[in-house]
Amino acid sequence: MAERFLRNCWYVAALDTEVVRMQPMRRTILNEPIVLYRKRDGSPVALEDRCAHRQAPLSKGVVKGDVIECPYHGMRYGPDGKCVLVPSQDTIPPAAVVKSYPVVEKYKWIWIWMGNPAKADPNLIEDFHWRDDPGWQSKGELLPLKANYRLLVENLCDLTHVPFIHPTSLNETMIDRDEEIPVNTFRSGQSVTVERWEFNKPAPSYFRTMAGLSRDDKVDRWLNLIYTPPSFVRLDIGAAPAGNGAKDGDRSAYPTTRNMNAITPETDKTTHYFWANAINYDLEDESLMEIDYRMVHDAFLEDLEIIEAQQENMDARPYARLNMDGDTGGVEAMNVLEEAIVAEQGDLAEVAE
Ligand code: FES
Repeated sequence: MAERFLRNCWYVAALDTEVVRMQPMRRTILNEPIVLYRKRDGSPVALEDRCAHRQAPLSKGVVKGDVIECPYHGMRYGPDGKCVLVPSQDTIPPAAVVKSYPVVEKYKWIWIWMGNPAKADPNLIEDFHWRDDPGWQSKGELLPLKANYRLLVENLCDLTHVPFIHPTSLNETMIDRDEEIPVNTFRSGQSVTVERWEFNKPAPSYFRTMAGLSRDDKVDRWLNLIYTPPSFVRLDIGAAPAGNGAKDGDRSAYPTTRNMNAITPETDKTTHYFWANAINYDLEDESLMEIDYRMVHDAFLEDLEIIEAQQENMDARPYARLNMDGDTGGVEAMNVLEEAIVAEQGDLAEVAE
């Protein structure tokens, strides 16, 4: 069955650095080919990457002023998708228009609204303020994934895979393989929270490196994540001096890390994985951000490898999902997503009646 996507929401379409003025870029999102470029004032434009005339990709054309020229017969389209020039004739047919998508540049990403443009409120963009907050350093990237986006959401909401997929890259930082650490999962409205706390533990290597702690320092550690639909997962990772009540109060004794994940379906079985980490450790020391980025980058490649292998097996023959206790966060996230999709499709059906 073809994937049903949530449409009335913002997705990350591109890194801000990917979309430039004179070189249009093609990107497929929710199975739709889209061309992205920038106007003279620097603001981004997103149009259907398919000329209304003979369906040539506009991304192979050129940007002239604020308009884009089709490479095949030179028809030009404005940022609103309307044709403004047909070189071979004086009149412009009303049907000479391509779809235009609302776009917003925020948090070093280009966001796109794939649903009803009338509902595209920029205030609905998910909060990733750590990406450009001067109190934080941030670094991220776009990773391609040859698998359905839901598998990646579930992976991020699941802490039980960490000691097995990331035995060296994250294990000491995140979780102990041999110790069962309780995880608290709860839903609030359209968000799912997964909380994991450890108390009075020796400071692990990550916090020794990032916060200058020693092996003798005892800490209370947390790894809390929040999922929001369609496919955003934000993690708060930190530690505080043991016994200072961080769980119920002040967590500012040591700096912390925010891991931000914005997952955009490309097709039913491929995904654009935008992620970034932000740290508020020593802002003068850029090497700390590099250490942090490299560790997470390596770990996420480990995740993508197993997820792509999952997808291959799922494609090979029908399967049934078997859920364990540790899957609760991912299962709840999928429940929230499914409810949102069903509600949206109900709205669309009402409009169509
Ligand atoms: Fe674009 Fe003909 S296909 S102008």
